[in-house]
Amino acid sequence: MGNYRIAVIQGDGIGPEVTQEAVNVLKAVGERFQHNFTMEYALAGGCAIDACGECLPAETLTICKEADSVILGAVGGPKWDNVPNAQRPEKALLGLRAELELFSNLRPAKIYDALADACPLKADIVEGGLDILIVRELTGGIYFGERGYREGKYGIEAYDIEAYSEMEIKRILKNAFEVAMQRNKKVCCVDKANVLETSRLWRKVAEEMKNDYPEVDLSFMYVDNAAMQLVRNPKQFDVMVTSNIFGDILSDEASMITGSIGLLPSASLGEGTFGMYEPIHGSAPDIAGQNKANPIAAILSVAMMLKYSFHLEKEAEAIENAVKTVLEEGLRTPDIFSEGTSLLGTKEMGQAILAHI
Ligand code: IPM
Ligand code: MG
Repeated sequence: MGNYRIAVIQGDGIGPEVTQEAVNVLKAVGERFQHNFTMEYALAGGCAIDACGECLPAETLTICKEADSVILGAVGGPKWDNVPNAQRPEKALLGLRAELELFSNLRPAKIYDALADACPLKADIVEGGLDILIVRELTGGIYFGERGYREGKYGIEAYDIEAYSEMEIKRILKNAFEVAMQRNKKVCCVDKANVLETSRLWRKVAEEMKNDYPEVDLSFMYVDNAAMQLVRNPKQFDVMVTSNIFGDILSDEASMITGSIGLLPSASLGEGTFGMYEPIHGSAPDIAGQNKANPIAAILSVAMMLKYSFHLEKEAEAIENAVKTVLEEGLRTPDIFSEGTSLLGTKEMGQAILAHI
């Protein structure tokens, strides 16, 4: 029996709906396995701008820092498209990652047998299943580099700088190598080393580190090729490790291969066991408040939290199995619905999963 404090940031759009289902499932896990999960709710994103005038209030950071881990829904929406840049809802997410020093983002893309039909690729391309883990650097690179306006060759120009230190590259690569050792021992480092200096440094560091992991098969691939290979032959990949911006892009692509972006969870980790767990989908304002969103990504994010932050393997498996079971039973939210399956809303899907815990 353990006691855990969880900060819950529901955020905007479909964030509150999917997070609610994730919290319900977490409570059910607590009852079944005799753990105490205490939730503390905090504001971030557009809803925080509305309530307190800033996207990431200090109180939210304090609540997160005092917690054992964080569950986050999604932030952003058209309502806040015109707020000044420094206060955009997305800044809350970047701020949380930076302030909590969560430099390592794990984004698994797995195809469930029951959902093989939902994969937009031809059946033979993903036959036998697909299980990729994208390890995305999360607190460096162009998303955090210097930016601004300056006088350029053609007049005023905007710029954003991509920069990586050896330290930042080393610590994310270390995570990738270690997690590969628990999987199929293959790491593909995705970069643009034919053009970018930062990519060449990534390669140098990776080459040096590979001696520490003799069992791991390390390869390098340019990002444009990787984007193509993901749809041509995704089964060739096990762990893909890459920079912040490339990981952002490739993880959306990989998610669609699994059938829907509504299925994929993520874990953002730092040096310790503290982590922030969120679905990789955004706030989907077009379907917000309509009980249409798929809560599976948020629910699986809770499973990742149990596994990575609390080392509660059995508990995490209970959630993963419950998700698998409802999919095998043919239960579907609109994003993964097809003829012959049963259409459920967000709440009903959450309830169905919870019933199998
Ligand atoms: C993601 C999102 C965020 C990112 C946005 C909302 C800032 O796309 O988590 O992938 O780019 O990291
Ligand atoms: Mg993204």
